[in-house]
Amino acid sequence: MVSAEIMHGGKRAVDRCDLLGVAPFSDMEGGLYRGYLTPAYDAALREVGGWMQEAGMLVRRDPAANLVGRYEGTTPGAPALMIASHIDSVRDGGHYDGPLGIMLGIECVAALHGAGKRMPFAIEVYAFGDEEGSRFPAAMLTSRAVAGTLDRQALEIADRAGVALADSGVDTASYLDAARRPEELIAYLEAHIEQGPVLEADGLAVGTVTGIAAQLRYRIEVRGMAGHAGTTAMRLRRDALAGAAAMVLAVEQAARHDDGDAVATVGVLEAKPGAANVIPGAVSFTVDVRSGDEDRRDRVAQEILARLAEIAAARELECDIERIHDLPASPCDAGLMELMDAALEDAGQPVRRLVSGAGHDAMNLAAICPTAMLFIRCTDGISHNPAEHVTAEDTAIALAVMLRFIERLGETCV
Ligand code: GLV
Ligand code: MN
Ligand code: MN
Repeated sequence: MVSAEIMHGGKRAVDRCDLLGVAPFSDMEGGLYRGYLTPAYDAALREVGGWMQEAGMLVRRDPAANLVGRYEGTTPGAPALMIASHIDSVRDGGHYDGPLGIMLGIECVAALHGAGKRMPFAIEVYAFGDEEGSRFPAAMLTSRAVAGTLDRQALEIADRAGVALADSGVDTASYLDAARRPEELIAYLEAHIEQGPVLEADGLAVGTVTGIAAQLRYRIEVRGMAGHAGTTAMRLRRDALAGAAAMVLAVEQAARHDDGDAVATVGVLEAKPGAANVIPGAVSFTVDVRSGDEDRRDRVAQEILARLAEIAAARELECDIERIHDLPASPCDAGLMELMDAALEDAGQPVRRLVSGAGHDAMNLAAICPTAMLFIRCTDGISHNPAEHVTAEDTAIALAVMLRFIERLGETCV
């Protein structure tokens, strides 16, 4: 059982995510899409900044357009526990993938502030701008900038409409100044919906995350020959879309043939010129490959690339492959996992550990401080879908666990 205050905080966190799920905080009609640096993004940052202030934080936007709220500890200027998640969403996504972790960070600070309590460390709540990569052809730009692991070259990108990142409301010359130094942070904590079915199947509200699967992402360009759909004999065609279709199935097969946890997905595919009576001359698509084991991920990726080359050769297509994203597996810190397990017990929850197949900003922050993650049960394991759902009760349990985690972390500092 959680207290009435914590129940109120859990419900408010969910309600705020729901509020952010519609206009003006969404860039699409009838659903949620909040891309990095869009009008909806800006509106969301203003709203969330107000909630951070109300909770007792000093608020700023950093050079990567992340929103940052700081709640000082007993000694002003002390290193911080960073509590974070992302404010952007996938296209036609759910309300909780990302924002819930930010709202819970705000609730943690609101609870401490309401009780007049300060920790031996500061707390900084970050709303990261670009985790999903659903606007620009790169993901987790903003947490990589904060971790100091982003190359300047990675900023030379444009969205699908051709708008450069540099023209989207950030100054790319100072973007990397968002970096934090390791000595400024004692730890990183991210709460997130599980986005899978494990906790629900086990009848559990929350669980300790052990680590995050390795990711690889490619952009593939297939070029054939555009031509008249009525006059070009089948044997004379170099149809880029028919070739790409065979490639998509090869991507699926390569992961299906793996006897472990590897997964591979084609999530974007665009054919040009895109007319009913023209043989497609060019196709671009993305390939996303993941596994908890980096070697396995790389083996499956190599198999995919070899199959794409074979298909292209057999169909006389040109095929260019660009690796656009590569993140190693990221284990959570062993000591913080124990602290999280203990916090679960304090909150009367059974201890359960699980791995994350989804990527999270925690993967990047691991470069500069120990990381911890808490997963929250989501209905039917559904995510990246408007049907995504989490209960206020489970969210309140997560808040209770996070507050215990913060208390225990404080005890390790004295
Ligand atoms: C983010 O949701 C990812 O795992 O791609
Ligand atoms: Mn996501
Ligand atoms: Mn997410």
